[in-house]
Order: sequence, then C-alpha cells, then structure tokens
Amino acid sequence: MAVKYDETKKIWVLETQNTAYSFGLHASGKIKHTYWGKKILRFEDYPAFEGYFESPWWDWNDEYPVRGAANQTEPCLQVMYEDEVRDVQLTYKDFETTKDSLTIHLEDEYYQLLVRLQYQLYEEEDLITKYVTLENRSHSDISIENFKTGSFYLPPTEDYLLTHLTGMWAHESRVVKEPIYEGKKVFESRVGRTSHFHNPFFAIDEKATEDTGNVWFGLLAWSGNWKTVIHKLPYENIQICTGLNDWDFNHALKQGETISSPRVLYGFTNGGFGDMSRKLHNHEINRVLPKENAQKVRKVLYNSWEATAFNVTEANQRILADQAADIGVEIFVVDDGWFGRRFSDKAGLGDWVVNEEKFPNGLESLIEYVNSKGMDFGLWVEPEMVNPDSDLYRNHPDWVLHFPNRPQTESRNQLILNLARDDVKEFVFNTVDGLLEHYNIQFVKWDMNRPIFEAGWPFEGNQRKMWMNYVTNLYEIWKRLKVKHPQVIMESCAGGGGRIDLGIMRYADQFWTSDNTDPLDRQLIQEGFSLCYAPKTMMGWVTDWGGKETYSLAYRFHTAMMGSLGIGSDLSKYTAEEIDETKEWIAFYKKIRETVQHGSLYRLISPREKTFTANQYISIDKNEVVLFCMKNPTPLSMFKVLRVRLKGLDENAHYEIQGEDKVLSGSYLMNRGLDVDFVQKHTVKVEKGNHFDSQVLVLKKKN
Ligand code: GLA
Repeated sequence: MAVKYDETKKIWVLETQNTAYSFGLHASGKIKHTYWGKKILRFEDYPAFEGYFESPWWDWNDEYPVRGAANQTEPCLQVMYEDEVRDVQLTYKDFETTKDSLTIHLEDEYYQLLVRLQYQLYEEEDLITKYVTLENRSHSDISIENFKTGSFYLPPTEDYLLTHLTGMWAHESRVVKEPIYEGKKVFESRVGRTSHFHNPFFAIDEKATEDTGNVWFGLLAWSGNWKTVIHKLPYENIQICTGLNDWDFNHALKQGETISSPRVLYGFTNGGFGDMSRKLHNHEINRVLPKENAQKVRKVLYNSWEATAFNVTEANQRILADQAADIGVEIFVVDDGWFGRRFSDKAGLGDWVVNEEKFPNGLESLIEYVNSKGMDFGLWVEPEMVNPDSDLYRNHPDWVLHFPNRPQTESRNQLILNLARDDVKEFVFNTVDGLLEHYNIQFVKWDMNRPIFEAGWPFEGNQRKMWMNYVTNLYEIWKRLKVKHPQVIMESCAGGGGRIDLGIMRYADQFWTSDNTDPLDRQLIQEGFSLCYAPKTMMGWVTDWGGKETYSLAYRFHTAMMGSLGIGSDLSKYTAEEIDETKEWIAFYKKIRETVQHGSLYRLISPREKTFTANQYISIDKNEVVLFCMKNPTPLSMFKVLRVRLKGLDENAHYEIQGEDKVLSGSYLMNRGLDVDFVQKHTVKVEKGNHFDSQVLVLKKKN
C-alpha cells in the first residue's frame, strides 16, 4: 500500500518505491509536515513530532499554511470573509484514501470554508502530485486573496543549494545554482504566461551531482501567473511555497462554488540531478503528454519563419516545400504572415482568413502540394492576440484587456484578447477548430508573443479573476481541440520558450524552446530545458544563426538533434554540397530518434562547466547508445582531449561503435571511457578560425 496511516502516531505516509512524504495531526489540531526524503525501511520508524520546536508564540510547518492564528511561514491561503475577518482557522475533519491517493478534509467551521488537500502517488515513478480544492458552504461570498498549491519543508542544514531556471527572451531556461540565505527568495510570473524569466521549477540539493546526492524538486503545472517563495525560516525548516501568484489576484468564491489550485508534481531522489530529470521525463511521456501522440516519434519539421518571415506566398512556400521534401522533411509548417493584412507585425493579427494576395488559390492548393510531396502540413497561429490595425479589433475593441482612461501599452504592435471572457474563448476555439476542420492541418504552432500588462476587464465585477480564468479557458480550448483533433501535433510557443510547463503539456505535444537558434547558446538553453522537460518535447531547428562560418552544418545538426529536429534555414541559400549534407543528417537523425526521444538522457558534461558538452541517450532496452560531444572554443581548448565515461550501460555487455569496427565492454566504457576524436583535432587556430567541433557516436549492444 502506498498511502499509509499510523493510527497511534496519527501520521500519513505517502510512500513511493524509494521515497516518502509524510505529515501528521499535531496536538494543536493542525496538520504538520513530518518527513520528506528516502523511504524509511521500517514503517514504525517514521517520525511524528519528536524534536519539533514548539513555541507558544509562533506556528510553523503547517502542511497547508494559512494567513491566520500564529502562522509565521509563507501562507498558501489568504481569504477575507464577508465581515472582513481575515483570520483563517482550519480544523482537521477526516481523510479518505485509496491505494494511491489521499484526501485530507479541513474546515474553517465558523465560516464554512472547506479545504481539501489532495495527493496522488505515482509509486513506480517515485513522484507525487498535490493540489487543493476550496468549497464555500456558507451563504455569502468569500474573497480569496491568495491561493497557492502547497508548501514543502526541508530540515535546516548549511549545505543546501537551490537550483532554478531563469532567462529572458532568446535565452530561456538558464540553470542557476545558489546558496539559500536567511529571508525569502521569490520567483514568479506576473505576465499571464509561464514566462521567459523563470520556470515554475525548484530543486534543492545537498551537494548533489548529476549522479549522486539528495535532490528535492517540484514543478508547478501552470501557464499563467505563478509564484514560488523559498523561505529560510528563523527556527525550523526551509520552506518552499508554490502556486498561483497572489499579486493582483482575487477570486470571489460564491456560495456553493468550488475552486481548485494547479497541481505541483514533486519528488525526491538520492541519485542526483540526472535521476531527477529521467524520472520527470519518463512521467511526462507516460502520464502528462496527450495520449494520442505521446509514444509516437516526432517527425522532422521544416518551418518557414527564418526563410521568408512575413513574406509567405504560395509561390515561395512551394519552392521551400520542394526543397524540404527533397532533404527528407516530414512536416512542412507555414509560419506567421499567411492571413489578413499581415505584411509585417503591424497589422492583421486577429483576422484569421487566408490572405488572397499571397495565396490566390487559397491554402488548399499549397496543402495539397505539400501532401503530394509526402509531407504533413502545419500552420502558425497566435489566436490570443490582435493588432489594433485589424478588422477584429475594429469590430470588438471591447475584447482586449485594458483599463478605461489609461493608455494601452502595445508590444510588437499587439494587444491581448481577454481570454477569460466566454465570447472570446468561443471565438478563439472556433478560429482554430475552423482551420482544423477546413484544412488538412496536422501541426499547429500556437504562439503568444507578448506579456500581459494593464489587465483590466471593464464593467466586470471582481476583475482580478481574469488571471486565473484566462489560463483555465486556454486549457479548455486546447482540451476541446485535442478531443476533436487528437492526431494534430500542437506546439506551445510564446515568443520562443515563454510557455513551457506541465500545465500546457497536458494538451501540447511539444514546445518551441527558444527563438535563439545559435547552437552554442542552444546547448545552455537545452541543458536547462532538459532538467525538467523530456527531450522529445524540445523542438530545435537547424538555422544559420551565428553564421555558417562559425558553426559547421554538422555542429548545428548535432545540437538540434538532441531533442526533436526541425530545419529553419533558408534552403535556397544552401549550396548543393550543403543540401547533400543536410539530407545525410536528416536520414541519420531518423535512425537515432527513437533512442533520443524515448530513451534515457544522461548529461555527461555540462556546457556551463566545461569547454565541452556531452549528452548520452540510451534506449530503454539498453541496446543503443547515442553520444553527442561538442567542442566549444575557449582559450587553449583546441589542445584539450575529451574523455567521456558513459553511464547506465550494461557492464557485462559489449558495445560496437558504429562505423569504427571497435567493440568495447560496458564496463570499459563506463569506467575507462572513450577518447573522442574530433575532426579538427590537429588544425590550429591560424589555419582555421572556426574551431567549434562536434562528434556523434552510435554504439550498439552485441548479442
Ligand atoms: C515568435 C516565434 C517565432 C515566429 C514569430 C512569428 O517570435 O517564437 O518562432 O513564429 O513569432 O511572428
């Protein structure tokens, strides 16, 4: 049994294969955290409140801390009752359990606010999710001012490091590690999407490496405003509090109404960051990604953006489609510019009708052509947005988020439709559904290019509910689209990687990782992405960013191949030799993609720490290993030799390095390691300026 209750100690223990998360009913009547870490072998040994520092003045370690009584930790719940009482007093009622789930019922009895703490265990995967539901059983509205998902606690030590992902447009998901000092550290989004600035992920480790050490981690499944507070408490533990952002948040919970928080997926490992990531990747593929496409390999994609920008026409897309089909592309995607008066970013957003000047025969003719070349057809949309210069805005100026008597700040000449409104929700659903019904579209790149500011919803009472309703409506639209068109691959993009999280992943098959396709930058962005999200959800394009002279085609391909592969270059500018090489790399990727997309990732060398990057993917049956090694120039790195020790192999088995006629044992490969021979090993700077280099090796187990 995974959920266990100790009647005498009054503690609940949520056990997965290797971990345990536990809390208990304290003498004060509060539910308090008691343990999070490796599973303890004897059930009787799980702690209750031994050593808990009781204070007559302060209160801490509540499993669901509130603004109320003497709580001194960051509250997950702040409400105001009708009589302006803002003090929440939760009493434990009872609990319900199944083999792998637990619900704890709490209540603020006087005001009849019910709080359900809900837990779901994934025993085999060593992961748990938790979320909270509120129910108003009183006769008046309850004003919810702060509604977070939950709190975690770690015992005090000096050795913790906090790992998080930070960035901006074009350099998303950069890994940062830092000590945890007294006070609070806040990560958040206040822009209505997950954001480029921070990803809703935390990890706290005790001297962990990729392969060893304790790591406690969590990911919030939310694509709007969120907030995580890391709080080093004066006395007891370190608290991590995560959920919806309380900034500009308010929800009037009507009588009889319930509201649920987003989920947080969390876990513990003593196997370092590599194990954390593999656990998350595995869970995402098996449990989070939309079922229809989760186990299918992602096809090689071509996207028109870098080649033709807004100037897409049937004529130029046909030429690109010819070239794409020739090199082995499987999905051809027409990006921005195909609709309305969209000749630049100044007009047309919102008018989702095909531009007849650019496509005189409609889109059908191009789609048929693309299909006749054996490729699927994909389309870019940005349906949450509107240019003021559009028919949609002229007809529905009231649909955009704005405050009366205040300027409307444009970003990329865009305003934002208020997706929290039901009429806007229906418009957005019908727009995309209409396109999918009408055309043979197998791929949608759904963009959201600007942040939300000035989030007014004129004439609506309790306007601040917009932040939450915007996201729940977005999910509803994507869900309805997925139900009607399950086979269509949906890509979540927000000016690059501004909407990457587990919330949208329930409906999105993949993400556009970043607008930055410079391969060296990408290695850093991809490293951060891979900490949390499965490589198959990470779309990478080969482009000419950074310059063809700087990076060889092989280097660019090797970087993009570490997830799902796309091509974004203007192929008409490629020489015959480059086209031939492109064909070879795409054919090669198709051979290894099963292992890259569905295997286990081992990050062997981090581009943050060394002058090399090395990533190894091993198939589930351990029969195939794909090893990517990149040599990145820094002073004197020309002369460095790379030796990599592989991981996760079968030590008794023998592996043949493809194309090298060399057979080595798993034991040798993991202990002695491979010396990676780069092509440019012996050229020196004076001969060749470009000394980025890369090598990909495939090893197959011999029977
Ligand atoms: C965003 C996307 C790009 C491209 C443009 C089109 O910036 O991230 O890939 O689709 O929009 O306007």
